Amino acid sequence: MPTPFKTAAAVILAAGTMFVAGCRQDMHNQPKFIPQRGTEFFTDHRSSRPQVENTVARGGLKEDSYFYTGVVQGANGYREEKDMLPFPVTLTVLKKGQERFNIYCTPCHSRVGNGLGAIVQRGYKPAGNLNDQVRRSQPISHYFYVMTHGYGAMPDYSAQLTPEERWSVAAYIRALQLSQNATTADVATGAKVEQLKELATAKGLPEGFAGPWELPATAITAYPANASEGTPGMAPAYPGDPKVFVPHSAAPAAKTNSSKLPDAPVAPKAGN
Ligand code: HEC
Repeated sequence: MPTPFKTAAAVILAAGTMFVAGCRQDMHNQPKFIPQRGTEFFTDHRSSRPQVENTVARGGLKEDSYFYTGVVQGANGYREEKDMLPFPVTLTVLKKGQERFNIYCTPCHSRVGNGLGAIVQRGYKPAGNLNDQVRRSQPISHYFYVMTHGYGAMPDYSAQLTPEERWSVAAYIRALQLSQNATTADVATGAKVEQLKELATAKGLPEGFAGPWELPATAITAYPANASEGTPGMAPAYPGDPKVFVPHSAAPAAKTNSSKLPDAPVAPKAGN
């Protein structure tokens, strides 16, 4: 014979089971559309809705096109790069740029931006020397553009860096260029100028630390024997930059390239 206690327990258990089952069922039958699957709800039976005309998705309005592209429409009809940043440069911006540069650019361009980073030392095509005359005279948005679209052998960094970060890196490149081309005239009057060589000695750094930055003999430089085969404007690199020595920057030696395509077979003369 069931006791009142047992009856109460059975009722609670039944109610609990119904409650749990109800929850499960609700989770199974979610009111949602599955991608690419049809529906009876809309007259065209498509669950994916076309974009509403003349609207922009929230957060997708790219009003400042210079900020996103790095180019402006020039009067001549061509897009032009500009030597300006779309937002004010602060120390925070430069520090952010330095941090991102050291992560993403130094493997090829090195920390000082001379284009002889660790990957280049192991055989990658020498990256641009950001401190040479050509790169220094480029407008700042050129760097943004290169990071956004890539350049020759260099991949683009648009997936890794947001537009704001790309501009910060571009700003930092300017600071780097100044640091690598500074003269004693740039130092505030009265400030003591210390030579890199003396600093290196004082810190016990190896001899040659302050000397020219050379690629190891084992590095494979990818300069094409014929400059016209290279990426425009990049080969031979570092013209006239005494701080950087690049083995292949001189005129190429006689061609001993075994990978050269064989000469085309000579067609037999007709009539012989
Ligand atoms: C994987 C190697 C690699 C990385 C990483 C890399 N670059 Fe480059 N970069 C190159 C190479 C190689 C070139 C020269 C292109 C050529 O000659 O084909 C170059 C050229 C450039 C140039 C010169 C373009 C010109 O007009 O002469 C700029 C500016 C530049 N890189 C900026 C950057 C910045 C900024 C980053 C970091 C976001 C970066 N690079 C990361 C390999 C790299």
